[in-house]
Amino acid sequence: LAVAMEKTGFSLILVLALVTLSTSSQKKCILTGTWQNDLGSNMTISAVNEAGQFYGSYLTTVSAAEKPILVSPLNGSQHIDDMGQPTFGFTVTWSFSDSTTVFVGQCFVDDHGEETLQTMWLLREKVKSAEDNWKATTGLWWSGLPVPACVEE
Ligand SMILES: *[C@@H]1O[C@H](CO)[C@@H](O)[C@H](O)[C@H]1NC(C)=O
Ligand SMILES: *[C@@H]1O[C@H](CO)[C@@H](O)[C@H](O)[C@H]1NC(C)=O
Repeated sequence: LAVAMEKTGFSLILVLALVTLSTSSQKKCILTGTWQNDLGSNMTISAVNEAGQFYGSYLTTVSAAEKPILVSPLNGSQHIDDMGQPTFGFTVTWSFSDSTTVFVGQCFVDDHGEETLQTMWLLREKVKSAEDNWKATTGLWWSGLPVPACVEE
């Protein structure tokens, strides 16, 4: 009897482990959609193709450029592994300035299925000559949450 109970206990643990594994791998972090950071900047990422490539658009709320802010295109790629919490990178080619920004980050999903993007960006501003190179690049953390799809009323 003792042996039988031990076996039952063991298979129960095994079942629990399998259930935990399958629920944690069920929800995957999907880059496709619109993401917003705490400054209200939005970025929209298209469907990710089989090679992991995507494109999209970025609308910033903050800019040091003189021209008015415009929606700017972005192109990038993500790792295709199990796509659970993929790393990715993309380039924003600003439409209203000569600057370029690259982002690198990871798409996370927590136990409640909530997704976040955790990234860092580097902004390269155009300077007149190599003497000004020292001040041409800045960078910061950027984290974003998904923007729920707009509901038509
Ligand atoms: C970002 O998207 C949200 C939701 O669609 C919208 O309310 C907000 O105005 C957008 N931000 C900008 C800067 O357009
Ligand atoms: C880059 O993104 C733009 C849209 O923002 C798209 O038209 C273009 O095809 C993309 N380029 C590549 C190489 O994916």
